Amino acid sequence: MARALTLCGSIRKGSYNEILRRHVSGKLVEAGAEVEDIDLGDYALPIFNEDIEAEGMPAAAVALAEKFAAADIVFIASPEYNSGASPLIVNTISWISRQRLGQFRKPVFGLGAVSSGKYGAIVGIGHLRDSLLKLGALVTPTLLGIGPARDAFDETGAPREEAIAKKVDQQVRELIHFSRGGI
Ligand SMILES: Cc1cc2nc3c(=O)[nH]c(=O)nc-3n(C[C@H](O)[C@H](O)[C@H](O)COP(=O)(O)O)c2cc1C
Repeated sequence: MARALTLCGSIRKGSYNEILRRHVSGKLVEAGAEVEDIDLGDYALPIFNEDIEAEGMPAAAVALAEKFAAADIVFIASPEYNSGASPLIVNTISWISRQRLGQFRKPVFGLGAVSSGKYGAIVGIGHLRDSLLKLGALVTPTLLGIGPARDAFDETGAPREEAIAKKVDQQVRELIHFSRGGI
């Protein structure tokens, strides 16, 4: 059974990306994966600074890197800020990248982004993908760029647009297909 992690690059109450994370998590469970949902609010990390690192690696950075290294699938839903990736996700990846556990090479990564704009944060998600590729990660060909956020999900948290629902299903299929967990 493939082991999947899901996390969100926004810890805002009412985050649209958190709605997407929850939806994809449910789809991964339906697909047969064993899923752990991570709340980055539970893994508070200082803004990355090599001086802090020299004083000792924060326990949250080690714990997250270990979870990535043990996962076959990592799904990240994360907003775009000023056409870049969210500061929370950049900071989290910076800290995780300082471990040497194969944490970016073992899992396959699926990325999603929900934004208030109609272009669905596709620029920010591209930056995040480039960064992960540079770290040696495999990222699914299908990216979920969803917008405008306000109209994107129904009251159950499912995508309103059929085309988006199909894209989610496609990405989940790719995650299972490319994962090394062997469902
Ligand atoms: C500082 C800041 C910068 C933003 N930049 C962008 C942007 O470049 N592109 C975009 O589509 N939305 C942008 N937004 C709007 C976010 O897409 C929107 O706030 C989104 O709901 C945040 O995700 P969340 O609901 O998961 O917290 C920005 C929002 C903030 C606060």
